[in-house]
This record gives sequence, structure tokens and C-alpha cells, in this order.
Amino acid sequence: MLQVNHLYKSYQSGNVTYNVLKDVSFTIRKGEFVGIMGSSGSGKTTLLNCISCFIPYEKGEILLNGTKIAALDEEQMAEVRNEKLGFVFQDFMLLDGLTIFENICLPKIIKNAPYKKMESRAKKLLTMFGIREVGNKYPVEISGGQKQRTAVARALMNNPLLILADEPTGNLDSKSGAAVIGAFTEAKEELGATICMVTHDSFSASYCDRVIVMKDGHIFKEMVRSSRPTAFHDELLLVLKELNGGVGNELG
Ligand SMILES: Nc1ncnc2c1ncn2[C@@H]1O[C@H](COP(=O)(O)OP(=O)(O)O)[C@@H](O)[C@H]1O
Ligand SMILES: [Mg+2]
Repeated sequence: MLQVNHLYKSYQSGNVTYNVLKDVSFTIRKGEFVGIMGSSGSGKTTLLNCISCFIPYEKGEILLNGTKIAALDEEQMAEVRNEKLGFVFQDFMLLDGLTIFENICLPKIIKNAPYKKMESRAKKLLTMFGIREVGNKYPVEISGGQKQRTAVARALMNNPLLILADEPTGNLDSKSGAAVIGAFTEAKEELGATICMVTHDSFSASYCDRVIVMKDGHIFKEMVRSSRPTAFHDELLLVLKELNGGVGNELG
């Protein structure tokens, strides 16, 4: 589904080069919920931006369902971003002037889709994520957890190949964060969604099928969940401790 092969990315600042991603390779299969963890500055956001081609990279190859997105022209790339990818950000990125229902419909409105079909999918997603009763409200009138579930619903509107989420629970209290992770789990189980989620939160990550831990631009470890989230959480905490040389587990 997603293949990242030998990816290299650096930033230039004056005459100094910062090598942020150094030979990163991994794959994500259809229907998988994959977490990406790692210390602040380890290149997680950079990696997501490379996958969606928001930023260029020097070396390597990224294939989405066999297609090299980087090789597409601007118009085709915009189409892939709207139809094949779904995005969820830390700060929700909802439009304040639109209702929750309208925000969820946005990817279909951009596509000029027929209203009836759009309405029925939006309603299905509103119900699935427990936000149907706030469908006619505006973003300022609902809670952070409801906003993020709206963002997850919007990301699913076009039935994308892959959802990219960058710290989706970063601005939420633990209860709202758990509700958002529940929304992802449901999207995976009921809609067959494929999700790649960057998170600093080991609790959120413990619900993933697999967690990729990054360090200094490399993949430090890949962990497959073979048990319940609580047991996987313990395994994750051990690896995060190892990541930090045995002290604490501060991530960002
Ligand atoms: N546009 C940019 N120009 C220069 N350096 C950048 C830019 N974006 C990110 N960086 C640097 O690249 C490194 C990785 O950043 P980022 O991918 O945001 O890490 P993470 O999301 O894991 O915290 C950091 O050291 C950051 O300062
Ligand atoms: Mg980041």
C-alpha cells in the first residue's frame, strides 16, 4: 500500500546541512494502523510531509499503491492529496465558518460530488464517531475531542487509501485523546482504513498494530503488537526508555 524506500531528506540552513532522514525504509499494508514515535526533532513530521509530497526529498522512493506521487504533475498531485490521502493535524484545521457537517463534507465539495451521496456518507461518519448531535454546530461550539473526531471523519470522507495523522491527540486531554484513538480503530475495523499516525503518546500508540520508533533520522525499532494494548503499552515504554539511554520517556 505505502512503500518508503531508502528515503533521505536534509534541510539547508546557510551553509550548514542538517540530515534529518537518513535511509528510512518501511511499508504499510492495507488496513494497518501504524504508529510513528520518536523524540522531538527526530524527523517524524518531515517524514509525513515527504509522503504527501508537501516537501521535496533528495533520495529514495515513495510509492502509494504502486504510484510514485513525486513524479506526478501539480494537478494530479492535488487530486491524490484530496482523494487518496486523508490528513489529521494536531490543531484540527477545521474551517470556523462552516458547520461540523459542512467541514466533514469539504473533500467531497472540492470534488464536486453529488449532494445526496455526500450527505449520506457524512451522516454515517457523524453517527459512527458519536458527533451526529453537533452536526449543525460550529467548531467554536464543540470540545477538542469532538473537533478531532470531526477531522477524522473529514479525512475519511473520500474513502482515502491512507490517512496521515500528525500528533492527533497532542492537544487533547487523555479522555478526548482516547475517543480519537477509538475513532481511528473504528475507521480501521469498519471501513478498512489504513492509518499512519505520528504520536508522542505511548497510550495512543499502544492501540496501533505496529509502531515504528525513530531516532536521529533512522528507524530505531519496529514493534508489532501481538497482544492487548495494555501489554503492548508496557513493551513500548521499555523501548522508549532504551531510546533515551535508560532515562525517562520524554517524547515530543
Ligand atoms: N523547514 C525546515 N528548515 C530547516 N530545518 C527544519 C525544517 N523543518 C524541520 N527542520 C528540522 O528538522 C528536524 C526534524 O524536524 P521534524 O520533522 O519537525 O521533527 P519531529 O516532527 O520528529 O519533531 C528538526 O531538527 C527541525 O528543527
Ligand atoms: Mg512533529
